[in-house]
Amino acid sequence: MPGTDKKQLDTVLKEARRFKPSKEFRKQAHIGSEAEYRRLYKKSIQNPEKFWAGIASELHWFKQWNQVLDAKKKPFYRWFVGGKTNLSYNCLDRHLDSPTRHKAAIVWEGEPGDRRVLTYGDLHRDVCVFVNGLKKLGIQKGDRVAIYLPMTPELVIAVLACARIGAVHTVIFAGFSAESIRDRVQDCQAKLIITGDGGWRRGKVLPLKDIVDEALSDAPSVASVVVVRRNLDNPLPCHMKDGRDHWYHELIDGMSADCPAEKMDSEDLLFLLYTSGTTGKPKGIIHTTGGYMVFTYLTTKYTFDLKPEDMFWCTADIGWVTGHSYIIYGPLQNGATCLLYEGAPDWPHRGRFWEMIQRYRVNIFYTAPTAIRAFMKWGDEWPNKYDLSSLRLLGTVGEPINPEAWMWYHKTIGHKNCPIVDTWWQTETGGIMITPLPGVTETKPGSATLPFFGVAPAILNDAGKEVNAGYLAITQPWPGMLRGVYGDPERYRQTYWSKWKDIYFPGDGARRDKDGYYWIVGRVDDVVNVAGHRIGTAELESIFVEHPRVAESAVIGVAHELKGQAMVAFVSLRDGNTETDALEQELKDWVVKKIGKFALPDRIVFSGDLPKTRSGKIMRRLLRDVAEGRALGNVTTLADATVVEKLKVQYEED
Ligand code: WTA
Repeated sequence: MPGTDKKQLDTVLKEARRFKPSKEFRKQAHIGSEAEYRRLYKKSIQNPEKFWAGIASELHWFKQWNQVLDAKKKPFYRWFVGGKTNLSYNCLDRHLDSPTRHKAAIVWEGEPGDRRVLTYGDLHRDVCVFVNGLKKLGIQKGDRVAIYLPMTPELVIAVLACARIGAVHTVIFAGFSAESIRDRVQDCQAKLIITGDGGWRRGKVLPLKDIVDEALSDAPSVASVVVVRRNLDNPLPCHMKDGRDHWYHELIDGMSADCPAEKMDSEDLLFLLYTSGTTGKPKGIIHTTGGYMVFTYLTTKYTFDLKPEDMFWCTADIGWVTGHSYIIYGPLQNGATCLLYEGAPDWPHRGRFWEMIQRYRVNIFYTAPTAIRAFMKWGDEWPNKYDLSSLRLLGTVGEPINPEAWMWYHKTIGHKNCPIVDTWWQTETGGIMITPLPGVTETKPGSATLPFFGVAPAILNDAGKEVNAGYLAITQPWPGMLRGVYGDPERYRQTYWSKWKDIYFPGDGARRDKDGYYWIVGRVDDVVNVAGHRIGTAELESIFVEHPRVAESAVIGVAHELKGQAMVAFVSLRDGNTETDALEQELKDWVVKKIGKFALPDRIVFSGDLPKTRSGKIMRRLLRDVAEGRALGNVTTLADATVVEKLKVQYEED
């Protein structure tokens, strides 16, 4: 999607609304003045080594690094070379000599309503005990451990235990199928899987152990399985294989809580997280210890303006990178209190999240645009029933947020009092890259605004020339960056570093406005070229969602004989609206009015629901299959596979 033709620029979102942080927020913020942001940003870009060394010194190192950044073997960068540290130590032990020891680290609520609170002291003890259990099973530094657990405290314990012993964790989202587990386990040759007898989702039990058993039918690297009982007093039925399977509570019974943290090299592997690329096979994104640690520490502190007294709630699942960085590693390094919730937002009713915000006096709430659009669709009456006055900051991540959804979030959830941080980043970047700073940045609905410290973005065309609308690029290394693709250095080089010389290619399209603000348009593979006009599908989707009757929309490009590509828009309506020809015409007129005739999709298809991954991303690839009449591709990552089947039938009948 190179180039900046005038028409393309004309079609970009014309968003004129501006929101400044309040005086009160600014006054209490870690960073509360634009001058300070600019000063620090400049320092972080001009002398990144000095900047990051200063931040790293706030954390504990068993041995100080000799060199902050080694760029000799690009793109295989190394950070804090020669340093020895441990991320679990920095999340736990570092707080034990302060009052934080007795403070809640995790406040957990299960879907059925059960609750547990773990202080930093508790979490430290439980992690140490479990590490000793892992040692008994022969797990050592460098071994790969797969974790397939529901969102319970044991998931956090398992992750931190791996980090403490230096085992490489790979968390597999508890909605993945047996086949997906098998692929991952085989790829990284995991020695152990930590799973559970079950977890709750929408009132039903996920039979995790059964799924793991199926996955292990062909995974010879796995020697042991540890099984956590979701509820000790009420075990869920599951089969235990003699010699291989161990109950977690039996393994840790009587174990010592004495367990020094392994001295990890800064570049020792911390975790692998599998993520889909443009080809079918998921790739294991590699993150290492020191750089990821420093980057998640700082991004959490400043992006969320995190204070010791805050109750922080990131609603992501720990199976995705957001949960790694902003439920576990970032907040715990900062000594924060995190709310952890097991289940669905609409169980047993659609006000569950708001009820929990009221119950726990949540101050910072971080969620995804797809969730926000669902909340909008369910209606204001749900949040309006609850006291949300404890909230002081809101955040979003995962996809571009439509300005209308942003406005709804601002008004209905934030009551116009909370800054919104729209944070752009990826599994690969380890942490937040482009985001407002809540005490500084004037926000514009739909824009991720400005780069975080040490992040040097640019917008380039295919030739690597700077343009105002084109590909997003990152021109300097940053500490949280991925270090590779597991077992496939060539894929790492090819996917991320081959488009331009020594510049990281995230795969997103973006534009920059006159104030230097970044607007992420979406993946470049979601950008459609209709008769020479490049149209960001996210942009068109925003236009649809702005329409008062529309809840959600996905726009895709399909092959078209004359125009090269044409667009098909899938639109799901807000409750209480009917799918009529008149409404279709109204939507077409709406698009013509908002962008122009050339941006009119060839078809508008009403769909009750859109096919989504379990992390909430709309699967446009499947919509393309539907629109182009192909057999449906791989549907294993869908949250609900029937949605796309129904859509296919409906599409073909229309
Ligand atoms: C998209 C999630 C626009 C983007 C942390 C990126 C966003 C992909 C935003 C990474 C945002 C994430 N605005 N787009 N604020 N945040 N994205 O690896 O396309 O699951 O490349 O990481 O999500 O998704 P991932």
